Amino acid sequence: MDALLQAALDARGRAHAPFSRFLVGAAIETADGRIFGGCNVENSSYGLTMCAERTAIFRAVAEGAKRFTRIAVVADIPKLTPPCGACRQVLWDLCGDIDVILFNLEGARETLRLSDLLPRAFDATYLD
Ligand code: THU
Repeated sequence: MDALLQAALDARGRAHAPFSRFLVGAAIETADGRIFGGCNVENSSYGLTMCAERTAIFRAVAEGAKRFTRIAVVADIPKLTPPCGACRQVLWDLCGDIDVILFNLEGARETLRLSDLLPRAFDATYLD
């Protein structure tokens, strides 16, 4: 299996989701070939929950990564799970128009562009 997808699966195994029981894994790949995994980390104050995608990208940025190529996201439902709106915005700001690979434990898989998930995005170019 693609190492990026395997990293997302491994991260999903570390998901902390006692409230929703919806376990999500993500993994982001850097332009120089590094991979950072992330899982959702829920909180009893529900709004403080962090999604798997943002855990992965924040981990990568905290380790000094700057350029990204792909992110993979895995959950265990037939309908492939895309990043939520907040994660789309954060990914756009930090990664630009990367590939977003959605897959599930049954082997279904789809690759999208982030610009298709977040058309006409707001970003730093509006702040110039
Ligand atoms: N979640 C993610 O981690 N990523 C997604 O793409 C969708 C939602 C998490 C947040 C929460 O812990 C649980 O899934 C249910 O919303």
